Amino acid sequence: MRIMKILFKNRRILFLSFNKNNYSTAPKYLATLRIGEKEYRTDEYTNITPKILSYLNRNLHLKKDNPLSLVRQRIVNYFYSSFTHGGNPIFSVYDNVSPVVSTKQNFDDLLIPEDHPSRAKSDCYYINSTTLLRAHMTAHQSELLRAGLDNFLMIGDVYRRDEIDSTHFPVFHQIDAVRSQRKEQLFENHPDLDIFEPSFDRTNPHAYTNSISNPIKQSCHTLEATKLMEAQLKNHLIGMVRVLFGEDIKYRWVDAYFPFTHPSWELEIYYEKNWMETLGCGIVRNEILANAGPNNTIAYAFGIGLERLAMALYKIPDIRLVWSTDSGFLAQFQNKNANANIVYKPVSIYPQCTNDLSFWLPPTTTIDTFTNNDFYDLVRDIGGDIIEQVKLKDKFIHPKTKKHSLCYSIVYRHLERTLTQAEVNKIHKEIEDAATKAFNIVVR
Ligand code: PHE
Repeated sequence: MRIMKILFKNRRILFLSFNKNNYSTAPKYLATLRIGEKEYRTDEYTNITPKILSYLNRNLHLKKDNPLSLVRQRIVNYFYSSFTHGGNPIFSVYDNVSPVVSTKQNFDDLLIPEDHPSRAKSDCYYINSTTLLRAHMTAHQSELLRAGLDNFLMIGDVYRRDEIDSTHFPVFHQIDAVRSQRKEQLFENHPDLDIFEPSFDRTNPHAYTNSISNPIKQSCHTLEATKLMEAQLKNHLIGMVRVLFGEDIKYRWVDAYFPFTHPSWELEIYYEKNWMETLGCGIVRNEILANAGPNNTIAYAFGIGLERLAMALYKIPDIRLVWSTDSGFLAQFQNKNANANIVYKPVSIYPQCTNDLSFWLPPTTTIDTFTNNDFYDLVRDIGGDIIEQVKLKDKFIHPKTKKHSLCYSIVYRHLERTLTQAEVNKIHKEIEDAATKAFNIVVR
């Protein structure tokens, strides 16, 4: 395995920008950041941390004794065996593409507007203002279409800044797919039907404003083509969920919105008395296809998160466990047929320790403008994987001084041993000190 190197040209700068006590992002002119073979300039967007960079190249989805890899194999097998041409699978699989992408790949190519909240610095890990760790596998859709592919799966690690609890982790894994068809494939038995409305000139798609104001279809597509694609998409995905969870799995479709598909849906399955969102999907916006090349196809796309599926299938109670290198965990998934019925047995449950942290915000920040995700990243950077959860417990504005205060509960639990209170207190104090310096707060 290639070792990830985080090197700064100037060592002093490494210390300045990523030292625990000086957490804020590196000013533009200070540093460049090396990831693997490449060097990137940093700027006011840079918010990636060494902790996050340490997850690159772990490739859990390709490790054969990892539960995520078992789920990946089952889904890939389903697509390989369900779609063949002359005995060969028609889907090609891309599961080893670097997670470092451009904002063009992650957003622009997918028609995600300039002001869309998913671009916010508080939600993504930026290397600089034009480069980030992909926030979804859909980031590779356009380049693969441009390369001439029509049916493909993109599998890998994606990065999002988020809250901390048993189901969220800043890195998770997705399988994304595109399936495209030409008129002759889609309407094999109905040569009189077409993919595009007569008013749409597919040889000059840019002269046509493709509206998505009709909830049923894009204006360039015929109703027949949209409905047939919708039926296929839904059948294929239900087929997949049945392969994973059994024939009797209860599910429902929910209308959704994604900038890159229209119409769009989410699939929820009924699992342990709750509706659980498993995937997003829809008909690819024709602008994306036309910009990337093909002007004679209609395509569907979807994206599935692997962690949730694996946690449900194998009854894994905490998302951090998929990162475990503990043999007690991995042995339960080792040398297993991908279809084996595995129920995770906790090696042992170690106690939690909860410490609160209350502080006054500086006069320039309010309880509404304080970026929770900045705080979560700082806690995770210092506490590492023993941080089980960070909860915002209380917000308070002093009636007289009008000073704003926040209180977070930090839950500590080691997955493999018991933590002592003294040990936790020491880390908690380090978090207090680092937060005091980084956010200019005053601990209460
Ligand atoms: N990229 C979307 C997400 O991460 C999922 C998606 C993929 C939805 C493809 C529609 C089509 O949530």
